[in-house]
Amino acid sequence: ITFEGGEGAGKSTQTRLLAEALAERGIQVELTREPGGTAGAEAIRALLLDPPGDGWGVRAEALLFAAARADHLARRIVPALEAGKWVVCDRFLDSSRAYQGGAGGLADADLMELHRIGSGGILPDMTFLIEVSDDIASARLASRDEGRMDAIEGRDRTYHAKVGETFRRLAMEAPERFVRIDGSGSLSQTHGLVIAALDRFEELQR
Ligand code: TMP
Repeated sequence: ITFEGGEGAGKSTQTRLLAEALAERGIQVELTREPGGTAGAEAIRALLLDPPGDGWGVRAEALLFAAARADHLARRIVPALEAGKWVVCDRFLDSSRAYQGGAGGLADADLMELHRIGSGGILPDMTFLIEVSDDIASARLASRDEGRMDAIEGRDRTYHAKVGETFRRLAMEAPERFVRIDGSGSLSQTHGLVIAALDRFEELQR
């Protein structure tokens, strides 16, 4: 299960709340995030979010995200799935498709090809897209980071608007996997929407 969305949507909190709720149901859960989740991928995260020199071009950036993902899948996600756990991940491939693809200008087919090469093309069973208005996102970001932004958060409004548009398009194109969640309410309201959607999804699988 992956969580996706723009900056300040409350994704990371919702990822953790879902992992806790699943554990309470007796499910073994692996809670993780991208970029990151392994020592190597966390090292790549630091390079991506606080880049040396003039920063990365979009192609190098996409390759670094794909490299981090390859390590994360091989060393953490696949072993957890093989052990029968549910993996709940804060961001995954769809973030590359939205940020480096729709906003960064790379072709979606190329990002999917990188994912095939790096990670065998594995996709989530279910993806929650947490959506909030720009105003709510900016307010949450300002309180979270005291206004400090990393290299990607700090990109302009046009870039982030394209990220949002691309997520919406990806959700429309893959309704069997995506659920759009309104994240503008309280933490517990949003969590309630996530749980309700998960239960509906499981019902459909039966
Ligand atoms: P986070 O702050 O939500 O943990 O994510 C780190 C940043 O990395 C965020 O701005 C989104 C960006 N990102 C990409 O651009 N491509 C990706 O593939 C992933 C996983 C994250």
